[in-house]
Amino acid sequence: MAISITGTRPTGTPHLGNYLGMYRPALALAREHESLCFIADLHALIDVRNPEALRARTREIAAVWLACGLDPDRTALYRQSDVPAISEAVWLLGCLTPKGELNRAHAYKAMVDANRQAGRDPDAGVSAGLFGYPLLMAADILAIGAQLVPVGRDQRQHVEAAREIARAFNGAYGDVLRVPEALVDERVMTVPGLDGRKMSKSYGNVIPLMAEPDELRRCVMRIVTDSRRPEEPKDPDADTVFSLYREFASDDGVAAMRARYLEGGVGYAEAKQALFEALEERMRGPRARYRELLADPGELERVLDDGGARARERAQATIARMRAAVGL
Ligand code: TRP
Repeated sequence: MAISITGTRPTGTPHLGNYLGMYRPALALAREHESLCFIADLHALIDVRNPEALRARTREIAAVWLACGLDPDRTALYRQSDVPAISEAVWLLGCLTPKGELNRAHAYKAMVDANRQAGRDPDAGVSAGLFGYPLLMAADILAIGAQLVPVGRDQRQHVEAAREIARAFNGAYGDVLRVPEALVDERVMTVPGLDGRKMSKSYGNVIPLMAEPDELRRCVMRIVTDSRRPEEPKDPDADTVFSLYREFASDDGVAAMRARYLEGGVGYAEAKQALFEALEERMRGPRARYRELLADPGELERVLDDGGARARERAQATIARMRAAVGL
């Protein structure tokens, strides 16, 4: 059975866009495949400078995974930093990685381009950590020996880099590493945010996944719609409220709402109320579990420690083969 791996950077509060784009598909995959799931706290160090915040965010992301239904007995949930073999793999892989592979990475290139435009030194503000981001991500995947990496379109390039790096290593030393594959689900929608643009922290248009009911309601009521009156027919597929409703309501509820959009007769206020209720219904349980997990970090720590031990075992086996292969 293929092994899949998912990494989440502990930055910011997860929102509905993250849930629909990453958490939900990864959890569905985890029910079919052997899978591992980790919090990329080493990647977070590229821009987080506050140790307390890093610890808190790492726990938050772990709690979100568990609250949304990750079964820690089936899926090892761990902190990247609890698997030192990953950091060791970074060096062994780095010595085989063409620097050009890293030069091409989107995040790095975007910084360099912005610096050039502003007339600054091209590498101003670029740390070796940022530059090496794809290398650390390759180590995450290759050390575990994962075959499938479910990612959004924006991360496909990183998985391609991991493939190239694995091939370079195998080319030099024989068949040591498993070459992974990106699993990009084209059906995963671009989730619209409150203003209709892609839901993204940087646009400030998000609905936090674990919002309390009053905040959830406030967010939903702020969704921008067109100015059609209740009796006018509306295009469900061009409307943010319906696009979100469709993901959370029952099939019957969705079919009925779609019909009413097309015929006319439902106002946006009513549709927003229905969306709020569907979201609240879906998230009430996970939110309670999330609060409970954060209030008693003991359980969270036990899950992460256990997941860490399982991930270390896999990564240790890989690093032992790598060390032997290179001559250490
Ligand atoms: N780069 C991923 C992101 O920003 C997070 C990540 C780090 C990851 N390492 C990974 C994802 C390994 C999959 C596999 O979303």
